[in-house]
Amino acid sequence: MTEPRAIPVVEVGPRDGLQNLKEYLPTDRKLALIDGLIQAGVTHMQITSFVSPKAIPQMQDAEEVARICLERYPQADLFALVPNLRGAQTAHRLGMKKVANVISLSESHNKANINRTRSQSLEELDRIRESLPELEVCVDVATAFGCPFEGRPTQQALVDFVGQVHQLGVRTFCLCDTIGVADPAQVRSALAAVKAAFPDSTVQVHIHDTRNMGIVNTLAAIECGADGVQSTLGGLGGCPFAPGASGNTATEDLVYMLHLMGYETGIDFPKLLGLAKELYTDVPGNYSGHHIHINS
Ligand code: COA
Ligand code: ZN
Repeated sequence: MTEPRAIPVVEVGPRDGLQNLKEYLPTDRKLALIDGLIQAGVTHMQITSFVSPKAIPQMQDAEEVARICLERYPQADLFALVPNLRGAQTAHRLGMKKVANVISLSESHNKANINRTRSQSLEELDRIRESLPELEVCVDVATAFGCPFEGRPTQQALVDFVGQVHQLGVRTFCLCDTIGVADPAQVRSALAAVKAAFPDSTVQVHIHDTRNMGIVNTLAAIECGADGVQSTLGGLGGCPFAPGASGNTATEDLVYMLHLMGYETGIDFPKLLGLAKELYTDVPGNYSGHHIHINS
């Protein structure tokens, strides 16, 4: 290919990256992180989640973070994860245009994560769509490639589940490798199958890096037509309700690779790396990005 190729890199660090941190990160530090990411050219960002503060204490300042960021960066594509109608209502009330509604492909992880059956979650999604038609809803399909309790799903199960969500009018999906057990062949095949079955939809991926395969799995998705890829600065992250979950693909590693390959991301790599280093200083035990010493 000769044309420069553009791929949206969607930063989910302020939500997925931080949700598992044991020590509470003060609101100002979260805001500084988001500010740094915006200054580095990140335009798509999941900035928080509107969830139960008992489930995820780290996100207890979600409303404040969202209110401030929506005011500061009106041009940016900022969104939040929500598990239910209440979360979506909060997002809407704060003026957010888009949410990611998480539902797991596996029944047991959905129960562990949001204490609902999948059909209850689908009913809730229907309520969100009915009561807030102007809110863009992307569905994060958690455990799309493997579940800590049920193992690897069949591809047909994934396509069928995406179909159920699609029937509710959703056209934006993110296939999430919640515990980082996918392989590139599986990602290629799943992406191709979902894209072929739902050509009117956009499909992103969100990959965890448990076996150092985050970047190859993400690349496999890009090469099979993913419409965007999610990652976290410093490779922080993991779902507290998925045993074995580890960090996400590190944004700085991903951006570095994509730029070398001629992809445009709009992100300034040296600035991004500077931010990753600051994060490393603040939360060293959680950092899992690679080669922190490389400067450009
Ligand atoms: N935002 C803030 N608080 C919420 C909320 C939301 N969207 N939805 C529910 N709550 C509160 C309720 O008010 C209630 O508070 P109380 O105990 O002080 O009365 C409490 O959370 C429990 O609510 P309930 O409706 O009984 O839900 P539950 O106990 O079955 O929990 C969820 C369901 C979805 C709220 C909870 O499991 C959750 O927040 N999960 C998020 C998991 C997550 O973020 N995982 C990582 C990302 S994939
Ligand atoms: Zn994740």
